[in-house]
Amino acid sequence: MKQDLLTFKDWSGEQLNELLALAIKIKSKPADYDTLLKGKSVVALFEKPSLRTRVSFDIGIHKLGGHMVYLDSQAGKLAGREDAKDTAANLACWADAIIARVYSHETLQQFSQASKVPVINALCDKYHPCQAAADYLTLRETYGSLNNLTLAYVGDGNNVTHSLLIVGAILGVNVISITPEGYEVDQALFDVACQLAKKSGATITQSHDISASKGANVLYTDTWISMGDDTPLAKIKQVFDPYKVDENLLQLSGAKYVMHCQPAHRDLEISGALIDSDKSLLMQQAENRMHAQNAILASLMA
Ligand code: CP
Ligand code: NVA
Repeated sequence: MKQDLLTFKDWSGEQLNELLALAIKIKSKPADYDTLLKGKSVVALFEKPSLRTRVSFDIGIHKLGGHMVYLDSQAGKLAGREDAKDTAANLACWADAIIARVYSHETLQQFSQASKVPVINALCDKYHPCQAAADYLTLRETYGSLNNLTLAYVGDGNNVTHSLLIVGAILGVNVISITPEGYEVDQALFDVACQLAKKSGATITQSHDISASKGANVLYTDTWISMGDDTPLAKIKQVFDPYKVDENLLQLSGAKYVMHCQPAHRDLEISGALIDSDKSLLMQQAENRMHAQNAILASLMA
């Protein structure tokens, strides 16, 4: 039975911890894994732009001895020429796995049903699982363990927040989502995270008050306007300004580090000075995208 990675919701804490341990092994001894995907080809189909995801998958797959075919929204346009399920069934005739960044999570579900090879979510409207895997890998490296850690997400409740909540809940990391009113995370996904946390013992909470970040180990933020959202910045800037991750919020919270999935908008959702400071985990997160994804590819394909 092929296994997909669409959300991580169905992974156990043990499986996720093994995945992070494998990522650490691949990162420390890449030569041991350089033929893992020998003779294998992966198609990466992007409906939206990407820097980190595209390049980290391409170079990562090369380092594992495999080959990646990139299809952008022009070459691989899903809507219009044929049904998404037909695209996926065709790609699976040649590829050993399909990576897809899509507008709608439903497209991934159609891919998953139609494809006989693993489908990996490279970001959709609801989730960004590869990002969350890299982020918790970064925290595990930084703190040595994920025990008793609290991550405060501050900003727009979005795909990245959902995956941080779900993966954090499974791994036993406390996650608090702090958003302006009207920009909360999806309530149904928040409830799923709370359910998952019952098993791990993590605390999953949400608030509109930035002082709820007090006691967190790390502050995490993301863009205030996600890809595909055409809200003008001027319209939301005032609402989001109090939620900016800057020196003041870092002091108020007592957090040691700041995180951001990037692309970051300097002096909007996060202060440029913080990005450049020793409080920033941003480049470690970016580097770990590749190692976490290589562990995902190894788990699903090898
Ligand atoms: N964090 C992330 O997914 O970056 P890209 O959009 O550049 O791939
Ligand atoms: N929430 C952002 C994440 C980008 C990596 C978006 O969907 O655009």
